[in-house]
Amino acid sequence: MSAFTDGPARLRPRRSCLAVPGSNPRFLEKAQGLPADQVFLDLEDACAPLAKEGARHNIVDALNTGDWSGKTRVVRVNDWTTHWTYRDVITVVEGAGANLDCVMLPKVQDAGQIHTLDTLLTQIEKSMGYEVGRIGIEAQIENARGLVNVDAIAGASPRMETVVFGPADFMASLNMRSLVVGEQPPGYPADAYHYILMRILMAARTHDIQAVDGPYLQVRNVEGFREVARRAAALGFDGKWVLHPDQVEASNEIFSPFQEDYDHAELILDAYAYFTSEQGGGKGSAMLGDEMIDEASRKMALVIAGKGRAAGMRRTSAFEPPQT
Ligand code: GLV
Ligand code: MG
Repeated sequence: MSAFTDGPARLRPRRSCLAVPGSNPRFLEKAQGLPADQVFLDLEDACAPLAKEGARHNIVDALNTGDWSGKTRVVRVNDWTTHWTYRDVITVVEGAGANLDCVMLPKVQDAGQIHTLDTLLTQIEKSMGYEVGRIGIEAQIENARGLVNVDAIAGASPRMETVVFGPADFMASLNMRSLVVGEQPPGYPADAYHYILMRILMAARTHDIQAVDGPYLQVRNVEGFREVARRAAALGFDGKWVLHPDQVEASNEIFSPFQEDYDHAELILDAYAYFTSEQGGGKGSAMLGDEMIDEASRKMALVIAGKGRAAGMRRTSAFEPPQT
């Protein structure tokens, strides 16, 4: 698993986060062959109540015996208002904790719900002899109360890795007048999701964690998916949920940096490293061609370079120190 090499340790590639119903062994098998950055094996809304018990065991088997190399492995448990959550966590983490990267908690409403999951994970890790704190948490924001508390949720535990928008439940929570998940509600002249997405992004960035956009349910409309994904990528989101192989390809492309930006970011990092070194004169700012670069440029470049490296991009130009 390639975490970004510089910056917060928990920033993993998450351009495409593939939903896989835990109740369906065929999908659990098929998901292993798709080029998604992350899979999340679902015990929540993709599993009928009577299928949840069996799905827990399918998921443990799939994590322990499947080939998930190159992918971040996540399980979505049921939310704390149900009676399933504790058993979901205990069965999956005791059974397959060594082969699991994160637990995703849906419909998070306040920081206390993250604390509770954190405590349960710590107890399981200790009793099983796993490294304490290795398993991360992803929090889905899916209702008004969750969004109002999103800052505290994003900072509730060092295990927090991402804040994830859940548009379907959110639209229901707000009484939004649309049933087409991911699309704009008719009759509103601007982007109805802008505030929600920005709010989530601010909270995530405040705590140096990732922000992930939720599903687009019209799986045959790949252009529609691209349009919505491009919007989230333009704001700064790290990735998006995907439900179909066509969406995986599109999401990987849209959430990767452009080649030109990736090359530029690597050049800035090299140039900055050179000019701030003794050999380069120990300067605080410097020129790269016609552009002045300083510590702030380095920070921006780190983000793009980190995403490009995580996506396996290759640079097409090299930094040449000035001849003296
Ligand atoms: C995802 O869980 C959603 O509600 O959109
Ligand atoms: Mg949901």
